[in-house]
Formats: sequence, structure tokens, C-alpha cells
Amino acid sequence: MTRKLFVTTALPYANAPFHLGHIMEYIQADIWVRHQRMSGNEVHFVGADDAHGAPIMIAAEKAGISPQEFVGKIAAGRKQYLDGFHIQFDNWHSTDGPENHALSQDIYRKLKAAGFITSKTIEQFYDPVKNMFLPDRYIKGECPKCGAKDQYGDSCEVCSAVYAPTELKNPYSTLTGATPVMKSSEHFFFQLSNQKCVDFLRGWALQDNRLQSEVANKCKEWLEGDGGLGDWDISRDAPYFGIEIPDQPGKYFYVWLDAPVGYLASLKNYFNKTGRDFDAFMADPTTEQIHFIGKDITYFHTLFWPAMLKFSGYKTPDNVYAHGFVTVSGEKMSKSRGTGISPLRYLEIGMNPEWLRYYFAAKLNAKVEDLDLNPDDFVARVNSDLIGKYINIASRAAGFITKRFDGVVTSDWATADDAFIRHLRDAAPEIKALFESREYGKALRAAMEQADLVNAYVDANKPWELAKKPENDAKLQEVCSRLLEAFRILTIFLKPVLPQLATQVETQLNIAPLQWADVNTPIPHLHKIHPYAHLMQRVDIKIFDQLFDAPVVDAAPAAEEKTSDIEAIAEEIKIDDFAKVDLRIAKIVNCEHVDGSDKLLRLTLDVGEGRTRNVFSGIKSAYQPEQLIGKFTVMVANLAPRKMKFGMSEGMVLAASAADEKANPGLYILEAWPGAQPGMRVR
Ligand code: MSP
Ligand code: ZN
Repeated sequence: MTRKLFVTTALPYANAPFHLGHIMEYIQADIWVRHQRMSGNEVHFVGADDAHGAPIMIAAEKAGISPQEFVGKIAAGRKQYLDGFHIQFDNWHSTDGPENHALSQDIYRKLKAAGFITSKTIEQFYDPVKNMFLPDRYIKGECPKCGAKDQYGDSCEVCSAVYAPTELKNPYSTLTGATPVMKSSEHFFFQLSNQKCVDFLRGWALQDNRLQSEVANKCKEWLEGDGGLGDWDISRDAPYFGIEIPDQPGKYFYVWLDAPVGYLASLKNYFNKTGRDFDAFMADPTTEQIHFIGKDITYFHTLFWPAMLKFSGYKTPDNVYAHGFVTVSGEKMSKSRGTGISPLRYLEIGMNPEWLRYYFAAKLNAKVEDLDLNPDDFVARVNSDLIGKYINIASRAAGFITKRFDGVVTSDWATADDAFIRHLRDAAPEIKALFESREYGKALRAAMEQADLVNAYVDANKPWELAKKPENDAKLQEVCSRLLEAFRILTIFLKPVLPQLATQVETQLNIAPLQWADVNTPIPHLHKIHPYAHLMQRVDIKIFDQLFDAPVVDAAPAAEEKTSDIEAIAEEIKIDDFAKVDLRIAKIVNCEHVDGSDKLLRLTLDVGEGRTRNVFSGIKSAYQPEQLIGKFTVMVANLAPRKMKFGMSEGMVLAASAADEKANPGLYILEAWPGAQPGMRVR
């Protein structure tokens, strides 16, 4: 039976570009989603920016722009990270979108009608200069216990005393330096202390297989600890960047009320855009709602959120899966300590995104454990396991098939009682189950054990020895065909983690996109594959020296505005001038590094002429060869051939860049819309 899944990751605050922790969370969820899609299940995977709250309002003010503009700029930077790491959300939205305003207000109204909203007047610190109530994080003062200066309103970093902000001596507002005054105002509360709520949450949180055991235990403590749950303050006074509370002018929802509603809002936005029925999907009892989150926000997701949904009559989450934090070489990520890695920097220096996906996957399990990024470990796992054990199988077998057998593989040997193929097929159910239970490290270990057996087969049968004597041809073809079939099955095992690599393999083996169900269906007998092109580079430890630098391009809006570097438009031409340039759709059938050049890539292009062209292009800084293979671009086909140091270049591909490439080094090759065929003229 196909499952219907609604999957989310935590909605990141829209006040900064993504860091490695965000990317890890998205990769964890993306692997699970891809595994589900490969299983034939229906999955809707959505994210959004968490736009609201006082910190974003204040940051926008500092940047001199409106909060909407501020979050808009952050949102504009998201795509390059998500695409860059092959994270395939179906939709990315914002908690400031109209769907979220409507849904949050609807949930509130229903909670109110059900009697779960109370109000009371409370006293809080108020900044008389800025005319706003001060969240605790903007109040500092002297510790009431030890007198240490400049301590935050909740606890002392010097003597570890814990206290209320009102107990600070000589308090001041960190926004204006003014002495805060006490001021009262009416706040609204969600009545978590209501017995119905406590009973519901206990049943929900302790249901078998809903939460990880350590998370369920925490919930139990929260529910049964001293005094149980307190009511939750869900309102904030203006000025606030958020959603207005219905019929309460000047009052807004606290950001954590509308933030998780953003999950539903993003799904609704996506369903509206694609003509699906949101209400029917959410009302369907077979729909599963699954949230991937970090350990620091479990309280919100296992208490507030299910209770809000339950008592407003919405569907409650089926699972909440919490992960630990990413550390770098054993330390908390921190820019000042040099352990803050920008994911954009990673891409910018040409590190392969699938190395990181593989590395994170190899370290991930179903527990709430922190995960360390360690350069030596990274290099070892990528080079020894991924390349040494897996990629090498293809490079050892595919060449012979192409050179000696015109690309033809056999599979008449691949019967159910063939021991070699059976051990690979038999491993599939366990590996699939490990992906299902988010034990990715174990899944990859099991896949690599299979790769070890395949490599033992290579060593026992030595294709390079067989190749020496023509009378061994039949045997050589069978051995290499077995290896490619084994490689195909291993590719299924790795596909949730390495989607781009899997696509390259599918292209080379000339087969349809691989699914879990394909494990037992070998490459057809006498099927013809495409010539082998190298699939993945090894990682060089030296590249880590560059990784800890700041990225050249950063999406933070507070960064200095670049002066315009858009080139002036060239001299006017007539249509005949343009017609002289013969632009054609070119398929990049191969792409490789050029020995001795740090600028060029060698492209092999198919322009529909029944032969291929060799073109050198100065795009090495922007692309890994394997990213380009199989893409359709545009080339100038009638440019006079040019003799270069490395050989003849027969044309030029089109790429966009800024006028001053030093100041603004991005380089973007053109890609044709799907459907365009090699050789079509561009006019
Ligand atoms: N906006 C809230 C979430 C609202 S969900 C309705 C928030 N945003 S966040 O940007 O601070 O964090 C987003 C996610 O990143 C959270 O799941 C958080 O746990 C995760 N991580 C933040 N730092 C992290 C690491 N160092 N490592 C791994 N994940 C980390 O919280
Ligand atoms: Zn103190």
C-alpha cells in the first residue's frame, strides 16, 4: 500500500543564511524523503522561512529596511544552498505568507471557542525610549547574587545563579541603554495546564513508535515534573513583527505560535499552486505528518504543537524526529573560533555536495546524538569507502565492456540461484529498513559490506588478466557484466544519499531511474551501455584549508551593498548581425579536468552532427565536471576553431558573469529548458 506522507524540517529563522546545522537537518530529511519516493510512496516535503519575532524586527531596523524586505532578502538566498546540496523540497514558503495568517488565526479562534484561551494582566520590563516591552534577551544588569556586571536577565555567567529579569540590579535595555520601567499589559495564554490537555499529551507522546525513546522520556518529565505544565503566553504587544490576534488590536501572536503553523501554510500554498486539495489531504486519516527537528526545539514540537492542533480540531503529528547538533572537530560551531563552516563556502571551493551528504549519512543514526565534522574522518570515508569501494567497481568493469564488447552487457547468468547476485539482492530488505528507521550509518555500512564482497570478486577474477587473452572474451564479458549489475544494485542502496551520482550512473548504464523495486530486475541481457566517464573525484585534505574562510558571496542582508557591476549595454546591432551568430543546443556528453590548467574544463559536446565537438571552457572555478555531464547548454557553433595549448577548441559555450569577475566571481553556464534537442538552433 502506498503511504501518504507530509514531511517537514524545522523552519529556520529568516535572520541569517543557512549554517551547516541547517544543511545537516535538510540532508537527513531529504534522504528519508528520497527513500520514500524510491519505495513508491506519495511524499510532500515542504519548508519555509520563520519570518516573525522581535529579533528579526530589530535586525531589519538596524539594516534600515522593513522586516518584510529583510526576510525577503534572506529568502532569496535560500535556493542556492538547497539546490547546491541536492535538497529537494517540493515547496519553500514563509510564515509571513497569507496562508499562515489565515491558518494561525483560524487555529486561535477554534482554541478560543473550545475554551483553551485565557487572559491575564502581567507586568514586564518596558523600554521607555524605544516604547516597547523588552524580551528577556534585551535586558542586562548586575547579578543579584554576585554583583557581576552585564549579565542577562535569566542567569549569571559568572556564578551560574538563576533568577528573573526583575531581580537584576541596575537593569538596562541593550537596545537603548535606558533603564527599563515596569509596565502592565494584558496577555493571552494557551491553557496547557488544562487536564484534557495533559491527558491528551501523555497519550500522544507515549504512544509506541511515535517519538524516540529519549524524547518520550523527556516529555514524561515535563508532563509529570514539579507542578506539571504551565499555561503558555502566546501574545506580544506592538510593536512586533507577527500576525495580529483576531479582535485584539495591538496584540500579536508570539512567534512560536505561528511558526509551526507555517508547516501547514507551506503545504497549503504548495497544494494551491499544484491544484491539490489541502483540506481533503489533511482530513484523510491515512495521511502521515512527520517533522524533522533539532533537539533544542523538542519542547515546542512535542507539547505546544500537538496540543494546539488537537484542540483546534486539526490532525496531530504522527512522528517528531529529533537530531543532535553538528560540531566541527569536536567543538561547537562558532565563527569567532574558526569552526563556523559556511555551506556556501563549501560549494564555492568546488567541494562535491554529495561527499557531505555521504559523510553526514555515514554518521547519522536514529538517536538524538551530536554529529562531528572532522576533516580526516571525512577524507577517509569519502576516499576509502565511497570511491575506493564503490566507484572503483564501475571504473574497473565499464571500460572493458565499452572497448571490447561495444558496450553490450550480458545477464543470462543472473538467475535466482546465482550466489554472487543473490547476496546483493538479499541485502536489500535490510538496507531499505535501515533507511526507513533513519539508521543511515548502518545502512551505508551494510552497503559497503556488499561492496567489499564485490571487490573480492574482482580480485578473484582479475578482469585485467582475462583481457590479455582473446579466448577469455566470453568470461571477461560475463565478469564485467556481473560487476556492472552489482554496481547497479549498490547504486540503488546509495541513491537516497547520492541522488546526482545515481542519475549519472543511470545515464551511463542507459537505464530508467532506479527504485527499490528494481533490485531483482537485472540490466536486460545484451543491453548496450554508454561509454564510461569518471563518476566522482577523490577529496584532497588540503581543500579544508580553504573551507574555514568566509564565503565570497554571502546572503546576509546586513552585508555591504555591492556597487552595481552590471556592464553597460553594447553598441546596437541589426537582426542580420545577430543572425550571423549560429547558436545551437549542445548536450554535454562528457566533461573533464584539463591537466595543467586551473581555469579550463574540457567539454565534449553533441550538437546533433553525428560527431562530437571538443570545446575548452574557462568554467572550472564554478563547476565540477560531473555536475555538467548530461546537461543541455547553448554554444556558438560557427566560431572559427581555435588552437589552444591543450588542443583544438571547436566553439564556445555560453555563461553569464559579472563585469568585474574579481569582485563578483560567480559564473553561470546557460541551461536549456527540458525538451530542447542537441542541434536545435537558438534564435
Ligand atoms: N525558527 C525556529 C524553528 C521553528 S520550527 C516551527 C528555529 N530556527 S533555527 O534557525 O534556530 O533552527 C532551525 C533548525 O536548525 C532547528 O531544528 C535547529 O535545531 C537546527 N540547528 C540549529 N543549529 C544546529 C546545529 N549546530 N546542528 C544541527 N542542527 C542545528 O529554531
Ligand atoms: Zn552572579
